[in-house]
Amino acid sequence: MNRKNILVTGGAGYIGSHTLVELYNSGYKPIVVDNLSNSSLNNITGAEQIIKSKIDFYKVDCTDFEQMNKVFKEKKNIDAVIHFAAFKSVEESVRHPDKYFSNNIRSLETLIDLMNSHNVNNIIFSSSCTVYGTPEFLPVNELAPFGKAESPYGETKQLCEKLIEKSTINSISLRYFNPVGSHPTSLIGDCSADKPNNLVPIICEVASGKRESMQIFGNDYNTIDGTCVRDYIHVVDLAKAHVMAVNHILNNTKIKTAYNLGVGKGVSVQEVIDSFQKVNNLKISYELGPRRSGDVEKIYSDNTKINDELGWFPVMSFESGLESAWNWEKLKN
Ligand code: UFG
Repeated sequence: MNRKNILVTGGAGYIGSHTLVELYNSGYKPIVVDNLSNSSLNNITGAEQIIKSKIDFYKVDCTDFEQMNKVFKEKKNIDAVIHFAAFKSVEESVRHPDKYFSNNIRSLETLIDLMNSHNVNNIIFSSSCTVYGTPEFLPVNELAPFGKAESPYGETKQLCEKLIEKSTINSISLRYFNPVGSHPTSLIGDCSADKPNNLVPIICEVASGKRESMQIFGNDYNTIDGTCVRDYIHVVDLAKAHVMAVNHILNNTKIKTAYNLGVGKGVSVQEVIDSFQKVNNLKISYELGPRRSGDVEKIYSDNTKINDELGWFPVMSFESGLESAWNWEKLKN
């Protein structure tokens, strides 16, 4: 089989590793570049076990022009790049904005330079619904303007989308809503070295006893039960959308676009905790706490653009996301 080469930066991370599996299963050859600073080699070996094949891996930092150049030279015919590699903690970005601007922007600039000089014309970029800030209309669609970024992390996503937009490269930015869950095999998952800040990983830590309890950040929002509303998308569905984006960009010329990547359904924090307890048949110790600064009251996607143009629809249930998240947590320990 003559597989097309897809360079995956950050392929040892949470979403990256799930995408490796889906790329391979769809006939592509993923090649990973990752500095392993907040990811794990276990995700590469896990992905290899799932696909029963070796994956080319380079331990390289995307901001390192020389090392990245070597990868492009050695691999010669890269058909497309999926750029996941980035710092991703909203909270850390507020404490260390320089670190976020320098790393997240510099790695993309390096990549674009190299893509231009090696004649690689297609990029899929890992963006976020955070680019919308607090949207004026819900569900939010891609016509909504960039809002005021709630964090330096969010600002880097906006700047990166603009950088890509200005480049001559074909591009698709995928604006993720809230990814949850793990591969059904539990061989790959979120291996971040960072302490988790996201809701479902925190619930998992309470369930495993790693944390005694957790807080719901605010119950006085204008939502169904007063807690914030988000759009939770299973990571396997998210990974599959990347393959569809690659198919699309390779089969068309002059693509410059962005897609929302969410299920299109708003779920409250309270509903997430209730469902987690029900699906996994356990009790979570939690209390009501104050609002967390920077939180948007509610955001969920209008995903009709990606439905219509790429034929992507979510198929994994929210419950299977919560179940697989817990399975991963149990095996991780
Ligand atoms: N939450 C709690 N308690 C916790 C953790 C989270 O109540 O211990 C709440 C948050 O306040 C929020 C919801 O759970 O209302 C979801 O919070 P997450 O941190 O899981 O996710 P966010 O929606 O804040 O952040 C996500 C991504 C970011 C992205 C952002 C854009 O993690 O990468 O969406 O809105 F930038």
